[in-house]
Amino acid sequence: MCGIVGYIGNKNAQNFLISGLKRLEYRGYDSAGIVTLNAEGEATLLRAKGKILNLEEKLAANKRDDKIGIGHTRWATHGEPSETNAHPHRAGKIYLVHNGIIENYKELKENLKEHDFKSQTDTEVLAALINSFYKDGEYPLANAVVQALKLVKGTYGIAVVSCLSPDEIVVARSGSPLVIGVGHDETLLASDASALLRHTKRAIYLNDGEVALIRKNSVEIKTLNAEPVSAKVEEIETNIAAIQKGGYEHFLLKEIMEQPESLMETLRGRVNAKDGTVRLGGPGLSEEKLRGIKHLVIVGCGTAYHAGLLAGYYIEQFTPEITVETVIASEYRYRNAYIPKDSVALIVSQSGETADTLACLREIKKQGIPTIGIVNAIGSTIAREVDGGTYVHVGPEISVASTKAFTSQAIAMVMFGLTIAQAKGVKSSMLRPYVEEIAKLPEAVRETLDSTHDIVKNVAEKYAEYEHAIYLGRDTAYPTAMEGALKLKEIAYVDANAYAFGELKHGPLALVDDRFFEMALLPEGELYEKAVSNVQEVLARGGHIVAVTNVEDFDLPVESVIKIPAEIRLFAPILMNLVSQLFAYYATVAKGLNVDQPRNLAKSVTVE
Ligand code: AGP
Repeated sequence: MCGIVGYIGNKNAQNFLISGLKRLEYRGYDSAGIVTLNAEGEATLLRAKGKILNLEEKLAANKRDDKIGIGHTRWATHGEPSETNAHPHRAGKIYLVHNGIIENYKELKENLKEHDFKSQTDTEVLAALINSFYKDGEYPLANAVVQALKLVKGTYGIAVVSCLSPDEIVVARSGSPLVIGVGHDETLLASDASALLRHTKRAIYLNDGEVALIRKNSVEIKTLNAEPVSAKVEEIETNIAAIQKGGYEHFLLKEIMEQPESLMETLRGRVNAKDGTVRLGGPGLSEEKLRGIKHLVIVGCGTAYHAGLLAGYYIEQFTPEITVETVIASEYRYRNAYIPKDSVALIVSQSGETADTLACLREIKKQGIPTIGIVNAIGSTIAREVDGGTYVHVGPEISVASTKAFTSQAIAMVMFGLTIAQAKGVKSSMLRPYVEEIAKLPEAVRETLDSTHDIVKNVAEKYAEYEHAIYLGRDTAYPTAMEGALKLKEIAYVDANAYAFGELKHGPLALVDDRFFEMALLPEGELYEKAVSNVQEVLARGGHIVAVTNVEDFDLPVESVIKIPAEIRLFAPILMNLVSQLFAYYATVAKGLNVDQPRNLAKSVTVE
């Protein structure tokens, strides 16, 4: 996620801003910038694409002893990574840095014709909007910020400075954290406290809907309705690693638990539950092209491959006359596979840098097949080389094991499938149930994580010492079982493999003995009874079964049962996968293994 820093005091602002941004590098970013003001209000704006090192090179030739400034590391959401799109953004005499997403930036931009927009960002729109109220100092800066924020829909954490008042910083938050550091004759600002620790342990945590006017010796907080708020100074948690993990012990748990929010970012502006429709702008395929699609090739590795498999099942359910082939990139790139002309290829990758997936993309493009990226890392190689795409916007995924990306990739591909079905004129009565459930998913994810957390922890600790595991599922629960097995394999080093329930009798049933436990994914539905029969075959051979189900009256004599909320039916496997993620996490913790950096693995496999 993006990072914000700010400083006002008696020391060199540039030094604090750069060191503060470096402290926030772990959050992932693709460009950075700072602006400082001298006593006369002359601004020095420095921005650079890529790493902070590039910014420091610019700084070397632009040293200032300014005492006030703001800085930002950007994880692009609107507009590609570039110097022009990097923050701070200027409008008139003001400079702004922003974390979050302004959802109604397009409408707001319509009424800001007098501003000469330079970037593609929603942030510059916010800067121009504030300036339209500030009127180059006719009105107090804080008032102008408040007036502008009252028109904004979306999330923000912002810091604003003006050349006309180089002794104050205005900050505000709604949905994106900001922490004010209280120092001696200086006041500091950051989007997370780890950037403040070297300077102070005293902090004021701004709350949503609050605006603060910061000076070097004062912090004045009000609500957007001008009600004064008493500033509560607290002690900062001194464990930097803990802060960067959002208070969680590991990045993996943080990324599992933030899936309601990350999925919400994936859906933002793309799902209309009221109309029962979805809209993806990124793929850039005409209605006619969408209507003509007869064949989807979905390409990925590891978790991305599993997300594609799962999405493929759903797309077949609601899209007529379409075949979906999900392939492992490292295999597909060497096959002499013929792709029919009326095909589209989905290229799935969290990092956007996976070598085999990228190689596949290039091979497929040679056949003239349109390629659509389902990518998280904005501006990554795959994102740049596909013909169109949909960013999943889950923010940086730090832990090697992919979790929040899987959930969002699968749903993003289902939404792409829905756009094909909509173009093909599929009845809305067929599509609406999927759209309505997708819209409810972030809340259902939250409810599942909260309701199963403790029991999954207990069950995982009970089964942590097994060296072998079989994950089982039918239909959409089968690729979900594959993903669950991969998690346990890659972080707990358990020999975990997934099989379609129906395949048990064709071999895997021979494996069942006390060395193994079985994770049985049992969503209600027309195949549930068949899966129950398979479970009974395993029970008859002494299987140690952990059942994950949304069937309320589930009563099979298995060893452990983990219930998930029943209201989500179509996408129950997505919720079951949360259980598998937590299970793998707690089994790994119980074994004392390295949760975030498992042995032999890298977060992005950029070599074959
Ligand atoms: C998933 O937990 C693994 N870390 C790995 O399988 C990963 O999904 C695979 O390497 C693909 O990575 P990508 O999505 O960045 O292309």
